[in-house]
Amino acid sequence: MTFSLSDVRDATPGVANVAHLNNAGSALPPTVVVDTMVDFLRREAAIGGYEAKAEALDRLEAVYGSIGALIGVPGENVAVVENATRAWDMAVYGFPFKRGDRVLTGRSEYASNVIALLQLRDRHGIEIVLIGDDETGQISLEQLESELEVGAAMVALTHVATSGGLVNPAQEVGQLCRRYDTCFVLDACQSVGQVPIDVASLGCDVLSATGRKFLRGPRGTGFLYVATEWIERIEPPLLDLHAATWTSDTTYSIEPSAKRFENWETNFAGKLGLGAAAEYAIGLGVDETWQRAQQLGAQLRDALSDMAGVAVHDKGKVKGAIVTFSVEGVDAHELHATLQTAGVNTSVSVPEYARFDTGARNLGTLMRASPHYYNTEDELGRLLEVVQSAAG
Ligand SMILES: Cc1ncc(COP(=O)(O)O)c(C=O)c1O
Repeated sequence: MTFSLSDVRDATPGVANVAHLNNAGSALPPTVVVDTMVDFLRREAAIGGYEAKAEALDRLEAVYGSIGALIGVPGENVAVVENATRAWDMAVYGFPFKRGDRVLTGRSEYASNVIALLQLRDRHGIEIVLIGDDETGQISLEQLESELEVGAAMVALTHVATSGGLVNPAQEVGQLCRRYDTCFVLDACQSVGQVPIDVASLGCDVLSATGRKFLRGPRGTGFLYVATEWIERIEPPLLDLHAATWTSDTTYSIEPSAKRFENWETNFAGKLGLGAAAEYAIGLGVDETWQRAQQLGAQLRDALSDMAGVAVHDKGKVKGAIVTFSVEGVDAHELHATLQTAGVNTSVSVPEYARFDTGARNLGTLMRASPHYYNTEDELGRLLEVVQSAAG
């Protein structure tokens, strides 16, 4: 481990209060993220919102470079928005679909993405083609390739599933998309900050992510990456005077950079906090933090699998730090509440969040525990103790 666990815990005030195993929900932010936001809010209160923004223009612009450095892209291909869903929406609702276009997607696609695709099906007559899993539980590359051969306008893939440890083989999917010249939209909401991301090697054309999860940034922040060749071809479904310019009484021109996907009004404190989170992650080393998060995930999964009455539901060849499980005869919401009373944060995954997957596997409501690199083995032990006693 190249970073010091005690340093990262010292820089995370929340660890004094709780064993936070809900990083797939919203992680505990490091002090630098909180201070960056609070300092900016104080400045807004002291001199005025517009004036504080003007004073911080260079720092605000640097946020794009920080996010770009985190995922290996130039800052001008990045838009900062309010969450991962809106980032994904701006690209997918703006995509130049024609009636009959096929969109290939996987079993682990997130509910909000599928709802949007269903609405686009109803509006524009696109066809949604569901690709099954292979024997390990990840997206079947074989089936994907045969559907790409038939033809598709887009592949929409969730990199790390919301409910379960699965890390989909995004790089292999990217290679197939390149071979068949198909737009690859990657939902990296649960992977950014957890799994190292290099857009060039993943080969995606569009990537969406959120600030608050494994990246440890502020709530209400997210970002979108769009490849240069797609920026012009994807017309944002919503425009304002930041995304476009009113050029005459009857005309407007759309911003040429990825800022066309943004709003004029935004949470500038959050934006600075998001940049601080990206810098913090880069500073620690995403390869190293991924190694530890993955190892804690594996440790927790193994210990839960060994318990009588407990079933672990994670699938996939590569698994990360999200662990889903159920305890026979115990309601997940009740166990979640018991854990919270014991000072352990987890969350509950309901089937509607990823229906293509939960439906196929006949899964009900599950417990979700998601450690990150700053958690300790002792914290995992606190969860295991409560689960063990619930399991009887
Ligand atoms: C895989 C995945 N995609 C997208 C989202 C949506 O993210 P946001 O709430 O930031 O819009 C989530 C949220 O849990 C998710 O797990």
